[in-house]
Amino acid sequence: MNIKTNTFATAALLLIGCASLPAFAEGDAAAGEMLAYTCLGCHGIEGYRNAYPSYRVPKLGGQKAAYLVIAIKGYREGTRAHPTMAAQASSLTDQQIEDTAAYLASLSADTVEAGGSAAPSLEETTTCTACHGQNGISLSPSWPTLAGQHEDYLEHALNQYRDGTRKDPVMAPLVAALTDEDVELLARYYSRLDGLETTAAD
Ligand code: HEC
Ligand code: HEC
Repeated sequence: MNIKTNTFATAALLLIGCASLPAFAEGDAAAGEMLAYTCLGCHGIEGYRNAYPSYRVPKLGGQKAAYLVIAIKGYREGTRAHPTMAAQASSLTDQQIEDTAAYLASLSADTVEAGGSAAPSLEETTTCTACHGQNGISLSPSWPTLAGQHEDYLEHALNQYRDGTRKDPVMAPLVAALTDEDVELLARYYSRLDGLETTAAD
């Protein structure tokens, strides 16, 4: 190889390196598909329930990628308390978490982008829409979409922020003022909007 082609090869390598950087940071959905196979053993089964307390395991299809990463790391680091999820999460490296999240976020993205345009308004959601969106489709990749999530899971999650078993500096003050009735109402409302889906492994 002469100097000229060598320089060219180096430049090309550098270019490839740069081009692949964002993909690396955001996670590789193709690599994530293999990893997500185990996950869909629970999350991919319609109506699959957590045994105790009893609530349906959350839908992940179409959930925001950055939020999935934050949530999975939360189980691994203990800001979220769930033994099975902690075990699942602790077996994954940061890169594997990014890859799995990229894959899960890509599932049923069409439905989730479309959102339920005809979402009825509910006064109790006024403070929620700033982050979780008018239709329950969140406005940032690091905030969860609530639309279409299981009603009993939403209720469970809100109650965990209320009693501090799930620690989050953003949600904690927001749920402090909610009553049991508010929580039920909000969970029912968001679960009925078009959005997230239970998606099985291929
Ligand atoms: C044995 C069943 C089971 C398996 C396997 C499992 N999960 Fe979970 N997962 C759950 C349950 C139950 C919850 C709700 C936990 C809670 O109450 O916080 C959950 C919660 C989650 C959440 C939070 C969702 C949200 O909306 O806040 C994410 C993300 C998640 N799991 C990803 C994964 C990934 C990725 C895998 C595979 C590496 C996986 N899970 C494997 C049962 C499972
Ligand atoms: C300032 C932005 C913001 C506002 C306003 C807000 N949220 Fe959140 N919400 C978040 C973030 C960020 C998370 C993820 C926290 C975590 O990592 O656990 C979250 C998580 C949640 C979850 C858990 C979802 C899941 O999949 O586990 C529910 C349910 C929820 N919010 C409902 C609400 C409701 C109802 C309101 C209005 C009363 C509200 N939020 C207001 C930012 C917000």
